[in-house]
Amino acid sequence: MEGKTVVVTGANQGIGKASALALARRGARVILVARNHAKGQAALDEIRAASPAQQGDLVVADLASSADVRRAAAEIRARTGRLDVLLNNAGVYVPERHTTVDGVEETFAVNHLAPFLLTHELLDLLKASAPSRVVTVSSEAHRGARMQWDDVQFASHRYRGFKVYGQSKLANVLFTYELARRLQGTGVTANALHPGVIASGFGQTYPGALAVVTRLAKPFLLSSEQGARTSVYLASSPEVEGMTGQYFSKSRPVRSSAVSYDEAAQRKLWALSVELVRAHAHAA
Ligand SMILES: NC(=O)c1ccc[n+]([C@@H]2O[C@H](COP(=O)([O-])OP(=O)(O)OC[C@H]3O[C@@H](n4cnc5c(N)ncnc54)[C@H](OP(=O)(O)O)[C@@H]3O)[C@@H](O)[C@H]2O)c1
Repeated sequence: MEGKTVVVTGANQGIGKASALALARRGARVILVARNHAKGQAALDEIRAASPAQQGDLVVADLASSADVRRAAAEIRARTGRLDVLLNNAGVYVPERHTTVDGVEETFAVNHLAPFLLTHELLDLLKASAPSRVVTVSSEAHRGARMQWDDVQFASHRYRGFKVYGQSKLANVLFTYELARRLQGTGVTANALHPGVIASGFGQTYPGALAVVTRLAKPFLLSSEQGARTSVYLASSPEVEGMTGQYFSKSRPVRSSAVSYDEAAQRKLWALSVELVRAHAHAA
């Protein structure tokens, strides 16, 4: 990864930090995106200590805000003339319905709209740096999920954390497949992945049943370093050069859920996402 630049979102802890650390150790310049300055700086200090040749960078942005996502992209473009890998890793589990400053349901906003918008804002840079890669961290939770098209933000339907989270992770796969198709011939690939079941900070953002279960289950789960392996593989391995539009688990391409291959659904999500991010651009 010498000479390559990688952006990692949600890089201050968990799988994102472990991925950034591993990629910096392989020689990449890493640009961390974190919403909390102190936590982001602590992660950057750790990465600098582990790989002194790589100074890295920190961009502070709350991905729940589309204005912040746009500002983060502008900051990244100002700091680097090339981008080899965008690792859309940040994600959240929200047990009760919350809305963002844009008025969007938080899970859909952070887990899907933020990577959708950040990828768009950085696409010219990725294309200019081709061959380059967009890697998006989904989850096996996408299986069994469906898009609730009449109410993707669960405004009128009963809000259930797992259902909403599963839908957002299905959206990651649908987005990846549509993106891969649209990027054919550009040299930019797009793949999604499941990291494993990992003892990270996942589920701890808000109190709730999942926060308790993940704390109790911690000794039996994989480490963040293990959880970073497939992300690091997709970001750095020559084996996946040119491979696009696939879903990976344990560093191998596997089939994602049947509904994720529905091209009409992929296009529908794309159109809906464009509409939502445009609406917020006008409101800002
Ligand atoms: N852990 C698992 O078992 C598992 C399984 C399947 C998939 N995943 C996926 O793996 C990815 C990484 O999760 P993790 O397990 O490493 O969990 P984590 O330790 O909770 O890390 C999530 C990261 O996302 C950041 N984030 C959340 N909301 C944000 C926002 N509004 N703006 C900016 N950053 C935000 C968090 O920042 P803060 O520290 O500021 O909250 C944190 O850095 C997620 O996409 C998750 O869905 C995890």
